[in-house]
Amino acid sequence: MTLRGTIKSGLSLAKRRVGYPISAAWAHLMATGIRPPAMIGAYPDYATAIAKADRGGYADEEIVQANTNKMRGRAVWDYPVMLWINAMHRDGMRVLDAGGHFGMKYTAFGDLCPIASMHWTVYDLPTTINLARAAQKRREVPPEIVFQHDLEKVGDVDLLLASGLLQFLDVPLAELVNRLNAPPQYIILNKVATRLGPTVVTLEKIGPGRVPYQIRDRDEFEKSLTDMGYAIHDRWEIPSLSHVISTHPELGSSTSMGYVLQRLE
Ligand SMILES: C[S@@+](CC[C@H](N)C(=O)[O-])C[C@H]1O[C@@H](n2cnc3c(N)ncnc32)[C@H](O)[C@@H]1O
Repeated sequence: MTLRGTIKSGLSLAKRRVGYPISAAWAHLMATGIRPPAMIGAYPDYATAIAKADRGGYADEEIVQANTNKMRGRAVWDYPVMLWINAMHRDGMRVLDAGGHFGMKYTAFGDLCPIASMHWTVYDLPTTINLARAAQKRREVPPEIVFQHDLEKVGDVDLLLASGLLQFLDVPLAELVNRLNAPPQYIILNKVATRLGPTVVTLEKIGPGRVPYQIRDRDEFEKSLTDMGYAIHDRWEIPSLSHVISTHPELGSSTSMGYVLQRLE
């Protein structure tokens, strides 16, 4: 074995034997290197991971405003979502775009879906909602989008869309749905990070900081969806959003999933 190979296998043995403290030190070394990797660290839950995130995750204004232009565009993984929105569409449909940021999907889908005939509410964290409302005042965001950070004020919802939220959501999806007036008939989830094995929370680099990124136990997660009273009507995989945690390659690649859920009467 080469010297590099010996050091690598020694480190990975040490990580397995000693566990978390070595993993944390390894993550720190990688994070402070010249080209910090996208994903570092592996923690058992959200609370442990957020304690390691240097800037408070999505409560940080600079993190919220990173990648804004990229998010505004349409990506290959948006197409199943648009197909299903078109299939479900009826005039006046009430959509709750949870984790909707500055209404990115409203803007991205507008050419290909009859978005303007729907009532579109974005639910997000207070920092994001305040920045989105300010952008709306500057006419950088369509005036018809309603921005709300209080789920109790959202009213009735026909379709809950959660695109790119589940990786970052700090509560179970069931808890978010329970805070609504009533469970919506349809839920579309996209970019849900999953794995075959216990849930792991890593830290993703976004702009100047890192945010907890959950990779959920897929079997447990899909069971939680049916326990909520929904049937999984469609599902798809997004191969280009699969990730390996640089500090923990032994955990394998994540699988990014999309789901259409229909409420069982
Ligand atoms: C990657 S962006 C997704 C933007 C867009 N929906 C998309 O698919 O590209 C993640 C969004 O989730 C929001 N977010 C994170 N945690 C949240 C929470 N607990 N409740 C609501 N929104 C949250 C962030 O503020 C951010 O706007």
